[in-house]
Amino acid sequence: MNANLPLRPDLEGESPYGAPEIDVPVRLNVNENPYPPSAAVIESIATAVAQAAQGLNRYPERDFPRLRAALADYLATESGAHATPEQIWAANGSNEVMLHVLQAFGGPGRTCLTFTPTYSMYPEYARDTLTDYETRPRRKDFTLDVDAAVSAINELRPAVVVLASPNNPTGTALPLEDIKRILEAARGHGPVLEAEIGSPARVSDCVVVIDEAYAEFRRPGVPSALELVGPAHPHLAVTRTMSKAFGAAGLRLGYLAADRALVDALRVVRLPYHLSAVTQAAALAALSHRAELMAQVASLRDERDAFVEWLRAQGLSAHESDANFVLFGPFPDREAVWRALLDAGVLIRVVGPEGFLRASIGTPDEMARLRTALTAAIGR
Ligand SMILES: Cc1ncc(COP(=O)(O)O)c(C=O)c1O
Repeated sequence: MNANLPLRPDLEGESPYGAPEIDVPVRLNVNENPYPPSAAVIESIATAVAQAAQGLNRYPERDFPRLRAALADYLATESGAHATPEQIWAANGSNEVMLHVLQAFGGPGRTCLTFTPTYSMYPEYARDTLTDYETRPRRKDFTLDVDAAVSAINELRPAVVVLASPNNPTGTALPLEDIKRILEAARGHGPVLEAEIGSPARVSDCVVVIDEAYAEFRRPGVPSALELVGPAHPHLAVTRTMSKAFGAAGLRLGYLAADRALVDALRVVRLPYHLSAVTQAAALAALSHRAELMAQVASLRDERDAFVEWLRAQGLSAHESDANFVLFGPFPDREAVWRALLDAGVLIRVVGPEGFLRASIGTPDEMARLRTALTAAIGR
């Protein structure tokens, strides 16, 4: 019998998001870190989780102050950021952090603005929070046309602007100057807030989210927007994750740094106890090994730059990347190339502009297999 459910009309015909989960020897499709945790990291996590298990009859710490302090400490060493624990927020992946942002600041009659091509989950956060989703194109080289972005902010008065830097799937990082101009434009150009009876309507600032999921892979000299976080920019939030450089995608721990008032707004919309005691314990244990966990970042960067050069030597176009993936092409039939690679045991991603493919950076062995398979697929 067909289900007769009161599904929201805007969800009619929608399917669950996600890259294909295919079990092949070389998986380079979702920008994970190819290196599993070491025995020492596994042991620390196991010990911490065993300890947390002793208290599983109790709810976990709701606002996880120890984890927030450890994340603030990590950001201070990684980017020289001076965020206090109260300026940090965390959830089950930066996916959930972003959902919290849109739950707090988006909603019916409000707009979220992004610049395409970009991360394919952004429209889903908007849809799920009943927020209007507007996009404007990036330039041909995938940099941001800041003048056009400022005009769009003036015109739309979005509640939230999301900019990925480095951007997925292009790998493009944003200069700080561009972010500063966007922050300036966002001031006073958020939604107009309903007036209380007897007082005038108030214009708000638009919240600017810089999604730095891949920031640790940026090339030397490329700054992080974290240096702008604080009272001077109360409408700025910078999101990070342990899923990529940190090599802990399975942990599901994303986080954000922002001025305290913004973080406190997110605390209102989160479900109570959204971060399990097991997640908190494992994340704290992993953070205590950060030097080791991050050790492969430099070699992944080198591998990435070598892959870009190799692609260009094959006559392909490959975009400079500040992330752990490379967008390359164009192929007259990208699906056929993707399929040929899959048949050779290498899974990459069909994403981004027509004709292009994206591959995450793997171990040297995995990259060698990718190069061999690609050479065969394009018949060079
Ligand atoms: C730009 C960008 N932001 C956020 C995420 C989500 O990461 P997380 O695993 O922290 O939810 C991804 C994952 O691929 C991403 O590419």
